Order: sequence, then C-alpha cells, then structure tokens
Amino acid sequence: MDSLSELQEFIGECHRCPLGDTRTTLVFGVGRADADLMFVGEAPGRNEDLKGEPFVGAAGKLLDELLASIGLHRSEVYIANILKCRPPGNRNPQADEIETCTPFLREQVRLIDPKVIVTLGNFATRFVLKTSTGITGLRGSLHRAGRFTVLPIFHPAAALYDATKRNVLMADFALLGEVLAAPDEQHEPLQAELFES
Ligand code: URA
Repeated sequence: MDSLSELQEFIGECHRCPLGDTRTTLVFGVGRADADLMFVGEAPGRNEDLKGEPFVGAAGKLLDELLASIGLHRSEVYIANILKCRPPGNRNPQADEIETCTPFLREQVRLIDPKVIVTLGNFATRFVLKTSTGITGLRGSLHRAGRFTVLPIFHPAAALYDATKRNVLMADFALLGEVLAAPDEQHEPLQAELFES
C-alpha cells in the first residue's frame, strides 16, 4: 500500500468480521497523513459510528481540550482506533475482531510513520506494547515499540466523570508536549517489536 487513501479503498465496505453487519459507518481514521503524533483509541462509539470520524463524542471533546493544552489541534495529528467498526452497545473489542482489524492499523502506522504513538486506554496499550499490564501501571511512562516512542495514557472516556483521572491526563499531556519538543531523546528500553520494520 502506498497511501492512506489506497488503504481505505482496499478496506472498502468491510465485512471481514461480523461488526461489518451491525455498524453504520466504518471509521477509518482522521488527521494528517504525515503526522508526528498518532493517537490509537479503542473502537468507534455511537457518535463515531454515525459520523464516520473517531472521537467526535464527549470523549473526543475532552481529547480536543487536552490537545489544546499543548497547543495542538486534531487536524495536526492522526487519530485511529484498534477497531474500525463499532461493537454493538459499545462492548469491549473481541480477540477475533482485533486480529482481523489491526493489520489495517499497523499499515496506517507504517504509512504515517509518526514519531510518537499515544495509546488511549487498555486495548490500544495492550496491542501496541504487546503487554498484559493494565493502563494504570503503564500510563505516563515512555516506551519504545520498534522505532516509535509510545506513551500510554488513560482513555479520555474514563476521565469524563473522574476529576482525578482528568488531572492525570493533563499531566500526561504535559509530558507529551515535552516529548514532542525532543522526540529523539532516549527513553526507556525497547518494550515491544510490533512495529519494527
Ligand atoms: N472511544 C474510542 O476509543 N474511539 C473513538 O473513536 C471514540 C470513543
């Protein structure tokens, strides 16, 4: 694949897993094709399923505020999810769905080639860092996955009604701002080989 639009065309009106039968709109991803910063969320929710864009509901509004806190707008980054289609009732992604869908995310990462990947919550963090450690133990610490710097943080949806988590997210975004200012500095040792090329 040579471009995101080619990849999107290849995915098409996907029915490679049963979520293709229940979704309204496939949510491919949005943002700059050459972004330095890429966010990986979990899966589209109700609003995203209707609009075809990731993070357009309440969690997305918080994500936009967090981006603004470090002087960024969503148009300057790339946002995608582990799953491209909404699981019914917003249930957790299932292992077979993750297996079917994530080759496309992997290809998005390869094409965008960001400097920093921020994983939002448990599912994205487990996939990108190939870890079973929960997000609470990993958030706010920098990792390497192949040539990418990875920063796991709480999922914004988890912070919507939890002021403590919201403050933690603000602090983790402050760290993100520092990392973006000096992305090539050495961080913690290699943790995963998933995106190694
Ligand atoms: N939650 C996610 O993980 N992704 C979205 O796109 C929206 C909500």
